[in-house]
Amino acid sequence: MSPTEPHIITEVRELRGWAEQMRAEGRRIALVPTMGALHEGHLSLVRLAHARADRVVVSIFVNPTQFGPNEDLKHYPRDLASDLSRLRGNGVDVVFTPSVREMYPEGGATWVEVERLGEGMCGRHRPGHFRGVTTIVARLFNVARPHVAVFGEKDYQQLVVIRRMARDLLFDLEIVAGPTVREPDGLAMSSRNAYLTPEARQQARALNAALHEVRELVRSGELDSKRLVAAARNRIEKEPLAEIDYIEIRDAGSLEPLSRLDRRAVLGLAVRVAATRLIDNTILEAV
Ligand code: PAF
Repeated sequence: MSPTEPHIITEVRELRGWAEQMRAEGRRIALVPTMGALHEGHLSLVRLAHARADRVVVSIFVNPTQFGPNEDLKHYPRDLASDLSRLRGNGVDVVFTPSVREMYPEGGATWVEVERLGEGMCGRHRPGHFRGVTTIVARLFNVARPHVAVFGEKDYQQLVVIRRMARDLLFDLEIVAGPTVREPDGLAMSSRNAYLTPEARQQARALNAALHEVRELVRSGELDSKRLVAAARNRIEKEPLAEIDYIEIRDAGSLEPLSRLDRRAVLGLAVRVAATRLIDNTILEAV
């Protein structure tokens, strides 16, 4: 297999066979699960995967079970040719692009759900979302049999939920987190940024600006969550197209709500900018 031309696999059976062979040869496998519409953030995860394993699998699968009935499943950007050209030359060995039927065989009745961690923040606004995520990620782990799986910190709650799932289900693998990659003006890279009109794109900068303001306040000694959240809210509400889903401060590990920054915390937010739902977060550490 050429190091620059990934091998495309669409069937579970074939990926299983490939993974079995790699393991028999003593190769370390890294998996980067994605839904496609790849951008520089995904490529940074691929590079992390490459640094930690001998073989890299990128899955591209728009997972229907993690979308709510009124969400963007139908319109989610899908462009396999462009995704493949982005992956070319990045040391990806296999691109796994299964069909829905392949990942969800007919008559399936089994779900993977992490209690509590998936309930607040995005979980409250997207009921069933994390159940869909953990169900597909567990299936991908079972098929690709990775030693390492890489996820982005931009989806912070997802990362915490997946770590817990992997721990609770005794998956024998390491979860690696990749830092959020940002556009030059600070907007976190996301496949959904493609939906933004130029005006909305401009106003979306408020998310990162709000995170920055909160970090500055913490640095100057403000530790009260309500006041910190209010500062983020004020900044974002200056943008006429922005509608806040939530802004919350929680324990960075357990995701328990925090009224005061007395330990390592995460400020997570979700904002609809002209109907495009964007998420972002920052770690807050009182010094
Ligand atoms: O983060 C994503 O792109 C998706 O939630 C994931 C992890 C690939 C599961 O479908």
